Amino acid sequence: MTEETTFHHGDPKDQDRPIIEMKNIEKHFGRVIALAGVSFDVKPGECHCLLGDNGAGKSTFIKTMSGVHKPTAGEIFFEGKPMHFEDPRDAISAGIATVHQHLAMIPLMSVSRNFFMGNEPERTVAGIKFFDKKHADAVTMEEMRKMGINLRGPDQAVGTLSGGERQTVAIARAVHFGAKILILDEPTSALGVRQTSNVLATIDRVRKQGIGVVFISHNVRHALAVGDRFTVLNRGQTLGTAKRGEITPEELQDLMAGGQELAQLEGSLGGTV
Ligand SMILES: Nc1ncnc2c1ncn2[C@@H]1O[C@H](COP(=O)(O)OP(=O)(O)O)[C@@H](O)[C@H]1O
Ligand SMILES: [Mg+2]
Repeated sequence: MTEETTFHHGDPKDQDRPIIEMKNIEKHFGRVIALAGVSFDVKPGECHCLLGDNGAGKSTFIKTMSGVHKPTAGEIFFEGKPMHFEDPRDAISAGIATVHQHLAMIPLMSVSRNFFMGNEPERTVAGIKFFDKKHADAVTMEEMRKMGINLRGPDQAVGTLSGGERQTVAIARAVHFGAKILILDEPTSALGVRQTSNVLATIDRVRKQGIGVVFISHNVRHALAVGDRFTVLNRGQTLGTAKRGEITPEELQDLMAGGQELAQLEGSLGGTV
């Protein structure tokens, strides 16, 4: 049997084959070694959390995954084949979508207009192309409804939505335009409790559609609420990957803080951290 027939669509083994596999990724900026050999993969329908303190290399790593940076060394396999992204467009057309904390959206423009920004549906009337507003509006309302957000109407301005709802618009947009891997860079770090739980619920919905989610956070509780696997980065290196249930919040927190440093801090504060 060939690889192809072993992993035909719907085969339970499909679930175990990563969509993307990053092997021993290094990234140097001159003499700064931002990544010193990081391996990470994402399977369909899982939420793989990437945790680490400021400067650990999280953003550099996902920029390598999304075609913004070329790795200095290491290999990327996408759906089992070696992949070289020349620029972010290559990664986007392969199905790797990134939602940044600071979203690229225009607050005064409608949700529908933002949803289709750069992907405007066109309708041709008498040889002239028009933005197909009716179609865009209907799709936007439906996609947002599926994500649990009932817009007042498609013309509602993005600026009137809460931070969590805007994140959801960006996520719904990525899903609608065919993301296989959805990278979320600190989507909850600027949100309050309720907004955070809405975004975590959105991540859960997306994952259940078979999309692989990369969730970057430095909040252990947010990660544990939705994560299937947890990889901790520290100064450009992986401290390890744990599965849900294999690690306690305390252990994860400790790893993230670099273990030792936290122990020292606890010591100096009399064990109150
Ligand atoms: N374009 C760059 N040029 C030089 N150094 C960089 C660049 N991008 C990131 N770095 C360095 O790489 C390290 C990791 O940064 P980053 O990936 O942003 O970490 P994180 O997202 O985990 O906070 C830091 O020391 C940072 O200063
Ligand atoms: Mg960062």
